[in-house]
Amino acid sequence: MKYHITTYGCQMNLHESEKIAGILKGCGYDEESNEEEADIIVFNTCCIRENAENHAFGNIGALKKLKKRKPSLLIALGGCMAQEAGKAEYIKRKFPFVDIVFGTHNLNELQSLIEKKRTTKKTVVSLKEEREEIEDGIIPVRRSYPNAWVNITYGCNNFCTYCIVPYVRGREKSRDPEDILNEVKGLVKEGYKEITLLGQNVDSYNSNGMRFPELLDKVASIEGNFRVAFMTSHPKDFSKGLVEVMKKHQKICRRMHLPAQSGSDRILSLMNRRYTREKYLSEIALLKQEIPDCEVTTDLIVGFPTETEEEFEETLSLVKEAGFSSAFTFVYSPRTGTKAAAMDGQIPEEISKKRIMRLVECVNNQTREKSAKCVGQTLEILVEDYDEKKEYYLGRDSYGRMGYFKSNRDRVGEFVKLKITKANGVSLYGEEQ
Ligand code: 5AD
Ligand code: SF4
Repeated sequence: MKYHITTYGCQMNLHESEKIAGILKGCGYDEESNEEEADIIVFNTCCIRENAENHAFGNIGALKKLKKRKPSLLIALGGCMAQEAGKAEYIKRKFPFVDIVFGTHNLNELQSLIEKKRTTKKTVVSLKEEREEIEDGIIPVRRSYPNAWVNITYGCNNFCTYCIVPYVRGREKSRDPEDILNEVKGLVKEGYKEITLLGQNVDSYNSNGMRFPELLDKVASIEGNFRVAFMTSHPKDFSKGLVEVMKKHQKICRRMHLPAQSGSDRILSLMNRRYTREKYLSEIALLKQEIPDCEVTTDLIVGFPTETEEEFEETLSLVKEAGFSSAFTFVYSPRTGTKAAAMDGQIPEEISKKRIMRLVECVNNQTREKSAKCVGQTLEILVEDYDEKKEYYLGRDSYGRMGYFKSNRDRVGEFVKLKITKANGVSLYGEEQ
């Protein structure tokens, strides 16, 4: 028996798919890369923007034929889209050949849902409003060596007005620090070299009074040759204590993903982000004052309801002022049930498209300029993969810079010092030292 998992969305989902793989392995399934050969196909979906949903629907629809040819095939759909209000009913109607729909709080039930499906012709649906327990018992099948993701929080309480995450991931819950530390110790022993602590908002971690800086300090104090990264941070919860812990430990990556979303105070307020441009910039200033070479990356949205041209240009100017090394840029996508979707002043697509093109160009220029400055420098990268097409090994350094080099033996999982000889966009090419 074989399983195939298709994942959409963020690191949180990629890691959840590793847990789904762990559950399926426990049920006696092996991994299969070819969908056509699988006995169960699982879609772990995302609903953060409309195009993520359309993408998933397209791929699910395409399975109708395969299911007809192979009626014993099980098709399961989980993740954020499954959890969206009314979506399970829609899926049952539109895609009646989907066998199982499970929500974001129902991972633990996957095995019993598979068994239940064997006794009924109907789509088996299981959704829960909130996470009852933290699924620490699941042993994930990790697919990202030498990196390992470790959840520290689940859910989100922030209700940014554009965002559907709080509705589909529920209220924030922090994991017990002992469980987190034991998991990290185990991963380091197994040879993982980069541990990424995951949460929708890591800065609001709070387990019986233990806050994120203390947890990070404890994680970075674990012995061994590994790096620690974390994501995502929220500017409203940024603290000096966090910067101090980063400064104390060389093991903590010299990068922070700090989503700004907009450079305009009026739009930030409409987004319910609870910080101003000035506060955001003062945080970066503090970070760079303490750790001058720390890199900051961000998320930016254009075309939020009522955004004017001038306000969009404030986002453009923030890119320069904040000195982001790179940014994920998005066109605002109205999500049913969120406050922003019901706001007046939705921005026409042609305007948002123009804005996103200008923003992408601005970000790319800045990234290129930063990359060009790396030529001649030495980077220490953690080798993550081999690019078959380019025939190069690749990996990232502590600052998040991507380095490529040639080698005639397997280097994945090693820290390698590269002297950079060429920069091409975000990619840096170098020779091993
Ligand atoms: N439209 C566009 N982008 C969004 N994001 C979240 N919700 C939306 C939306 N409705 C972006 C934010 C967030 C990132 C993960 O996705 O920038 O930080
Ligand atoms: Fe969404 Fe805001 Fe929570 Fe991030 S912090 S997941 S943008 S609601």
